[in-house]
Amino acid sequence: MLDNKGFDLWANGYDKEVGISDEENRYPFAGYKSVLSKIYHKVLEKNKPSVLDIGFGTGTLTAKLYEQGCKIYGQDFSVKMLEIASKKMAKAKFYQGDFSLGLVKPLRKYTYDFIIATYSLHHLADKEKIVFLRELKELLNGDGVILVGDIAFENRIELENCCNEAGSEWDDDEVYFVVDELKKELPELIFEKASYCAGVLYFGQNTLF
Ligand SMILES: C[S@@+](CC[C@H](N)C(=O)[O-])C[C@H]1O[C@@H](n2cnc3c(N)ncnc32)[C@H](O)[C@@H]1O
Repeated sequence: MLDNKGFDLWANGYDKEVGISDEENRYPFAGYKSVLSKIYHKVLEKNKPSVLDIGFGTGTLTAKLYEQGCKIYGQDFSVKMLEIASKKMAKAKFYQGDFSLGLVKPLRKYTYDFIIATYSLHHLADKEKIVFLRELKELLNGDGVILVGDIAFENRIELENCCNEAGSEWDDDEVYFVVDELKKELPELIFEKASYCAGVLYFGQNTLF
């Protein structure tokens, strides 16, 4: 599992590496652009909403939302990622902090129209994901939604097929979303597939849309 220093080292080459994996339809980033695009369009159904990004990285998605007038907040533990994202979004409120310890205190005093997390929460074990998602749900405005875009599968058979196909590329340290297993704890979860190994999970007070 990469720690914050590992992500610091990856920061400059990150966008290029992700782009190549997506274009070649290869695990782990097959479907990346489609995932980000689904979240982008969902968020912009609201006029200039507030958006909290968990593990914002280089800010690929949030910078686009920022350009459209969204009020951006975020947490990431990589200083280098924070530096890159801050340059793109001068007025965003970004904080450094490890989300395995929860949300940093300053971000807990706001509420949000959307809380997004793309390709970040697979660094948490399933139990931690569930606790964290429930915590985040408390910070949503009335009709707010959590949008998680990540490596995700409908069930464990799909995950195992992907693992076999990926061979030595498969990362055993990451804990991918298996929707039918998580739904036992979070029944309101809705899943939209974006590729054979990715999709968007919707979670909120009212995710029946
Ligand atoms: C694969 S990148 C995804 C970046 C961006 N959201 C995207 O979609 O391109 C994962 C990001 O999550 C951050 N991250 C991973 N584990 C974290 C943790 N425990 N606490 C805070 N940030 C974390 C990394 O620093 C990195 O910026």
